[in-house]
Amino acid sequence: MAGTGVFSEILDGDAYKYYSDGEWRKSSSGKTVSIVNPTTRKTQYKVQACTQEEVNKVMELAKSAQKTWAKTPLWKRAELLHEAAAILKEHKAPIAECLIKEIAKPAKDSVTEVVRSGDLISYTAEEGVRILGEGKFLVSDSFPGNERTKYCLTSKIPLGVVLAIPPFNYPVNLAVSKIGPALIAGNSLVLKPPTQGAVSCLHMVHCFHLAGFPKGLISCVTGKGSEIGDFLTMHPGVNCISFTGGDTGISISKKAGMIPLQMELGGKDACIVLEDADLDLVAANIIKGGFSYSGQRCTAIKVVLVMESVADALVEKVKARVAKLRVGPPEDDCDITPVVTESSANFIEGLVMDAKEKGATFCQQYKREGNLIWPLLLDNVRPDMRIAWEEPFGPILPVIRINSVEEGIHHCNASNFGLQGCVFTKDINKAVLISDAMETGTVQINSAPARGPDHFPFQGLKDSGIGSQGITNSIDMMTKVKTTVINLPSPSYSMGSSGSSIRSRI
Ligand code: G3H
Repeated sequence: MAGTGVFSEILDGDAYKYYSDGEWRKSSSGKTVSIVNPTTRKTQYKVQACTQEEVNKVMELAKSAQKTWAKTPLWKRAELLHEAAAILKEHKAPIAECLIKEIAKPAKDSVTEVVRSGDLISYTAEEGVRILGEGKFLVSDSFPGNERTKYCLTSKIPLGVVLAIPPFNYPVNLAVSKIGPALIAGNSLVLKPPTQGAVSCLHMVHCFHLAGFPKGLISCVTGKGSEIGDFLTMHPGVNCISFTGGDTGISISKKAGMIPLQMELGGKDACIVLEDADLDLVAANIIKGGFSYSGQRCTAIKVVLVMESVADALVEKVKARVAKLRVGPPEDDCDITPVVTESSANFIEGLVMDAKEKGATFCQQYKREGNLIWPLLLDNVRPDMRIAWEEPFGPILPVIRINSVEEGIHHCNASNFGLQGCVFTKDINKAVLISDAMETGTVQINSAPARGPDHFPFQGLKDSGIGSQGITNSIDMMTKVKTTVINLPSPSYSMGSSGSSIRSRI
């Protein structure tokens, strides 16, 4: 059970504590922030409303702990990460319970998120030992001078304090995808969880605590964005920000100053379907890509661009599969569960009403109860409808019929987003050409968009983000190259008898 057993020390009465200096603490504010269960719409958990002074304290501790951590051997850092991964997986049940209650993630997917996170941490430890243990050796030649007098040694050094801000939809997995690379690279880490998902994050952080990481190296502060949001992201003690979420990321990037940023923001991933596509495969992927976790994934298929000649057949196949989706509470492992907040549900409804007014074809009746929205396929969507461009982050999927591949690519590229996209065709040459033409960070051929496997590069163009993720890329991003150049005397310089004789032998 969440908040019991090994997790009992993170709970005080009805409120979860925050983590600073290797201890679980109550905020001096005396205030808490409530987390509403999306299914019951009642307060499920409370977390501390940390103050700016408490943020200052964790920054100070992080700075000091990092100095020692950077000198800790790589194998030791990796060993602690492996330990944290094992503890996390051992406690997958109580952490999954938090995910179910805070973000209404279906039961099986909640367990998968925790297990995937453990695997991600272990892989990060292994990868870090490999890539951080290597440096480069370069020798000067004819550029810019003409002598082999400079030997350059390079290595990767940590940045300092990394601020990690994961989103509500993967609070554990997208937190550890930042924590793991930061720590293995020798950085310290301050975590600011999303409100919905904060308690899952606190349980996950406790697994790192139990693994025995040094005090102050990892901190987790919870609270109101209005009090500590900008204060954290603009804090002079932060040396790097890794953020996943919505367009808040754009304002963070404007305010953050001259530090490395890793930003994964939204997406409007297009699914382009050609005439020769295997329509059963496409329909299965549209269901998985468009409706898993009720469409609340940045990589969800958010618009289908299908050639008119196969559109009727495809829509029929997708409709048949939509009818089989189980709608209900996450505890019952339903496919479609309540969306995360009432305001999200209201936003989604606004998109649906706009499409209705403008004449989209409803393949199912629109139905909503509280935050629970039934899956809806909207056919004959046109570019003047909001749903053609905006991301619903809900179980609503627009279908736009196209008359040429160029029309599909044009629609995809006209979006402000450029995260992923997919193309379905049996013609691999055509698929690769379409992939080249699509302005997105990744294109999947004959499968729905997805971030994983977690060691694959993952990046968005345009408003979808800055930098590239994936385990190796994140380790790279959270380090700097340090070079030391050994300058030998030039042959023309007299080095005395021993130097001259070595030179003459070369
Ligand atoms: O929501 C954003 C995530 O990065 C998507 O991850 O493709 O594994 O669902 P996923």
